[in-house]
Amino acid sequence: MRIFSRVLLLILAALGLILAVVAYYTVNPRLPDYVPVEQVHYQDQWSAADRQTYYFTPQGTQVKGLHYDWFTALELPFSDQRFATPEYLARFGFLVDPKQVPTAQNPGNLPVGFARHTNAGSNTQYLDITCAACHTGELHFKGQALRIDGGSAQHVLPSSVPTLRGGSFGQALVASLAATYYNPWKFERFARQVLGDRYESEHDQLRQDFKQSLNKFFKVAWNDTHRGLYPTEEGPGRTDAFGRIANASFGDAISPDNYRIANAPVDYPQLWDIWTFDWVQWNGSAQQPMARNIGEALGVGATLTFFDSAGQPLQGDARYPSSVRVRDLNLIEETLQRLKPPTWPEELFGAVDKPLAAQGRTLFAENCAGCHVPAVSHENGRPMQHLKMLPVDYIGTDPGTASNIADQRYDLSALQWDPVELARLNVELHPTPTEPLDLRKLSVAKGLAYVTAFVEDHAYRAAGVTPAERPRLDGYGLPIGVRELRAYKARPLAGVWATPPFLHNGSVPTIYQLLSPQDERNTTFYKGTFDYDPRHLGFQTAAFKNAFLFDTKITGNHNSGHEFRAGQRGNGVIGRGLQPQERWALLEYLKVLGGPLEQQLP
Ligand code: HEC
Ligand code: HEC
Repeated sequence: MRIFSRVLLLILAALGLILAVVAYYTVNPRLPDYVPVEQVHYQDQWSAADRQTYYFTPQGTQVKGLHYDWFTALELPFSDQRFATPEYLARFGFLVDPKQVPTAQNPGNLPVGFARHTNAGSNTQYLDITCAACHTGELHFKGQALRIDGGSAQHVLPSSVPTLRGGSFGQALVASLAATYYNPWKFERFARQVLGDRYESEHDQLRQDFKQSLNKFFKVAWNDTHRGLYPTEEGPGRTDAFGRIANASFGDAISPDNYRIANAPVDYPQLWDIWTFDWVQWNGSAQQPMARNIGEALGVGATLTFFDSAGQPLQGDARYPSSVRVRDLNLIEETLQRLKPPTWPEELFGAVDKPLAAQGRTLFAENCAGCHVPAVSHENGRPMQHLKMLPVDYIGTDPGTASNIADQRYDLSALQWDPVELARLNVELHPTPTEPLDLRKLSVAKGLAYVTAFVEDHAYRAAGVTPAERPRLDGYGLPIGVRELRAYKARPLAGVWATPPFLHNGSVPTIYQLLSPQDERNTTFYKGTFDYDPRHLGFQTAAFKNAFLFDTKITGNHNSGHEFRAGQRGNGVIGRGLQPQERWALLEYLKVLGGPLEQQLP
């Protein structure tokens, strides 16, 4: 008996300790401090109106059904301070301007990319995470910030797996939601704020709806954690886009048998000039802009219905209702066509050494242009750049994401697709398959292509898009092309100095290191800072409070490949060794490549 009560005491003590630790990190999530900059500098990448359109046009995503006014009214778990203040959200890496004030497009005074939408037939305003949240960057130097429109985000938005350090957005948000629901005083304050004079009549309904949303958060966190779906911590500035889209669309929405380990997080690529690329995504797997954007929206939380209320798969024209907003997606896409790359700001980051840059131009022509300067043709009213695809074995960078996309298979037979019907869709598989499709073993790219084709069709009809309008909304009349190459694309490099870290998995912090042999690259470095290193062209790598330690030894994080080293080519070695002086010259040229200063070189 004494042993029993001792064991019990021990268990209770252990539980108490765990609870205390959880409570401690809930109150003090290990987030970097918010360090306000003196001023945010915007460049003439496009007009101020385009910028606002890009920042706040919704795309149709819902954050587990969170209403916009709930989000702005939420308090921190153990204080009555608001959760959604610019200062607090900035600590997750979201972009704010210390001078920002509420506007008509951003009434909640939220960070870049936090938009809102209502669905047809309802007044509910949902929080909507839009493109700009992931595709806008910022570089800080000496207390000044340079905003990079279309650049790479450094936030911790996508992570759905709680960690002890508590540094992710989802985890902190759930802590606030749970505190609001379970602490009656907090909930009353919240309800009065949200409902105003509708407090009496709608209080109970609010509590119900709120709980539903909270349950969704719990369910996803539990699901993703106990299945171990995301073993490689994404940290700031990355997400396993294809893995998460597949787990959401084929796992959550069809069958748990379709969950796959997603262990290859990727960086947020920059978006200037993408409208001229023949194929996009790091592995060059997508062709049609609208379908690509729909697929992304489904991954980021747009609703999608595959089955009717009796659990039967939807058929015919009923396939597939969603919350994606095709006209808004098109507006964003057309706005992006006006986005220019950033230009090196000499007044902020120092003057360009023009003679050195001119030497770099020669080195670039010899060592880089063969891959990074694509052939251009003109098709369907746009310049089209034919980007070179480099097989993983040759380029030698982390093979994870390209291999996962090529190898993973998903069973979509529950959707009861008819091959004849699939053949009528605007989908083009490359290469053309020689055998009939096996719907029990579809790749993510093919499965997603057909799903988005149905969703697109349905959304076009719902939005009254006429057949004549379709080619424009699709994007240059392009079909929904699909490839699954084990390869990465070599993109044009205008403005690349503004998009650290580098390579598709963000494993190399500066361009200087990228042009150095692998054994001269950092094997670990700290991430989550915006502090720019204008000498090496990248982010600072030193430790700072609550930084994320990036370890290149972990699966998906390898920093191999794209190496310039003496010896045989292949297996990751793509060029001759570059002397440090040559690397500096190349860096100097990359600052001006494609910008107005390039014309002024001697
Ligand atoms: C949650 C973050 C997130 C949001 C929101 C998001 N994207 Fe992306 N986007 C990514 C990631 C990650 C990739 C890289 C995926 C890959 O290739 O594996 C990507 C890739 C792209 C690419 C391909 C770029 C290239 O270099 O090939 C384009 C274009 C793009 N996104 C446009 C958009 C547009 C337009 C929207 C809004 C309609 C959007 N994205 C919303 C994360 C996001
Ligand atoms: C053999 C073809 C090839 C050559 C030559 C080449 N690159 Fe690359 N480069 C690539 C590919 C492919 C990638 C993408 C690899 C990845 O993300 O895994 C890349 C990526 C990059 C990136 C990172 C882009 C980003 O958004 O993260 C930079 C910067 C870069 N290259 C610069 C250079 C420079 C400078 C040279 C010449 C000194 C050069 N490259 C030569 C193929 C090449």
